[in-house]
Amino acid sequence: MKKINCLLLGTVTLFFACVSPQNDPKKDTKTEQHRPNYHFTPQKGWMNDPNGMVFYKGEYHLFYQYYPDSTVWGPMHWGHAVSKDLVHWEHLPIALAPDEKGYIFSGSAVVDENNTSGFQKGDEKPLVAIFTYHDMAAEKAGKLLEMESQGIAYSIDKGRTWTKYAQNPVIKNPKTQDFRDPNVKWYAPSKQWRMTLAVGDHVEFYASKNLKDWEKTGEFGKKEGGHGGVWECPDLFPLQVEGTNTEKWVLLQNIGRGAVAGGSGTQYFVGTYDGKVFKNDNKPTDILWLDYGMDNYAGVTWNNAPDNRRLFLGWMSDWLYATKVPTGSWRSAMTLPRELSLKNTAQGIRLFQKPVKEQTLLRTGAQQNIATQSISTTYDLKPIAITNELSLSFDLAKTTASDFGVVLSNSKGEKLWVGYEKSSNRFYIDRTESGKKDFEKSFTGRHYAPRTASNPLLTLNLYIDVASIELFADGGETAMTDIFFPNEDFNKMAIFSKNGVAALTKGEMWQLK
Ligand code: FRU
Repeated sequence: MKKINCLLLGTVTLFFACVSPQNDPKKDTKTEQHRPNYHFTPQKGWMNDPNGMVFYKGEYHLFYQYYPDSTVWGPMHWGHAVSKDLVHWEHLPIALAPDEKGYIFSGSAVVDENNTSGFQKGDEKPLVAIFTYHDMAAEKAGKLLEMESQGIAYSIDKGRTWTKYAQNPVIKNPKTQDFRDPNVKWYAPSKQWRMTLAVGDHVEFYASKNLKDWEKTGEFGKKEGGHGGVWECPDLFPLQVEGTNTEKWVLLQNIGRGAVAGGSGTQYFVGTYDGKVFKNDNKPTDILWLDYGMDNYAGVTWNNAPDNRRLFLGWMSDWLYATKVPTGSWRSAMTLPRELSLKNTAQGIRLFQKPVKEQTLLRTGAQQNIATQSISTTYDLKPIAITNELSLSFDLAKTTASDFGVVLSNSKGEKLWVGYEKSSNRFYIDRTESGKKDFEKSFTGRHYAPRTASNPLLTLNLYIDVASIELFADGGETAMTDIFFPNEDFNKMAIFSKNGVAALTKGEMWQLK
């Protein structure tokens, strides 16, 4: 991070009023070429999962799996940033560092309102982080059934400094290899804490009065449904089904390998929870995916978000190639923060998502309206930028094209396609021609998402940011997230249509700061 870009305040770098590297003529193109403008990235070094997301006294806290000394995964710390609006982030010093008990793997954080933990000293409520200790020495010694346990740490100064609990671990390893990523929430009906923990091919549920003593209450996953692969980073929360009085519980379940687009991805279940165990409303074979792209993993939601909002953030990469992507001094970005909702659809109750409304703070200049028209080959969008928000509606009844959407390109002839294929009724992102991809053979081709909506009006909301695209189709019923690495930043954008016309009924575009 160059001084010229940002205000330096002690060890804390403020991102407010920063000149983004993308617009900065002094930007070091070698190390910063693919750095996004409005997605969260670490200043330097390696980042993976979002951790410990919690809101307290006007601040959204974001912790993340972090290795500051290298751009590949290593001894895991919890990096830390805060935001007042989910859009502008202030980097803070590292919150948790590895110690003799191990690396600090993923987990969650809560506000201990009633001081159940007894950690409170002054006026501030304790923030308590619950994480996995991964003992590398045990792993190296082949003691795989002993290496992961759960620990806690607390802060009594609004998350600025953290103390690990002297009697860690709070949950010892019961001789299980993959035993990690505790997600803790306050469970109001019994005024206690509840934890969902990923354990191999299932999750386990635990209960506690004080965040220190935990008791197992149940399991879900082995038979009741679920995709194979190692289960990681679960999140269990209630949501009201929109327009009804029905409350359902949603279990987000990240799967390390074999997800819908290949590699890692996020499955979800809709069902009930009685404080002890979750039950799936759907058949085990009905597999629901949060995102159909390749690059949205380990996502979980904020605790204590105001106005009962259920806010989600994922890591915009995939374990198949995360350590190889061609960025310079830093590796990987987070998705946009998204608001989740549940809606009744013809297929059943489904999760919808859209970028948080605060995202509109980034719109710069006037909204550009794209005229209603039938597009038969391409329609160039001007002025062009690589940080855009696009909202397009098409009338399928009047569309004869086999396939239509948006294409990004550059003077090197590289292209990134995002579209809808009418015959197969699927959305897609295609990065076959998108630039650098030799770093990993699976980093090519087309990812598909079935269209589940049946409305003849099809909407595409697109967020493009230098090296990533997020598609929210049909009002957030379907989402796809992919990253890409053109040799030269994309600087052209067009709506395309193949083998017929695409009937555009409404088009809006904003350039984003
Ligand atoms: C998911 C994950 C977690 C683990 C962390 C380690 O991406 O594998 O299960 O806690 O990353 O960095």
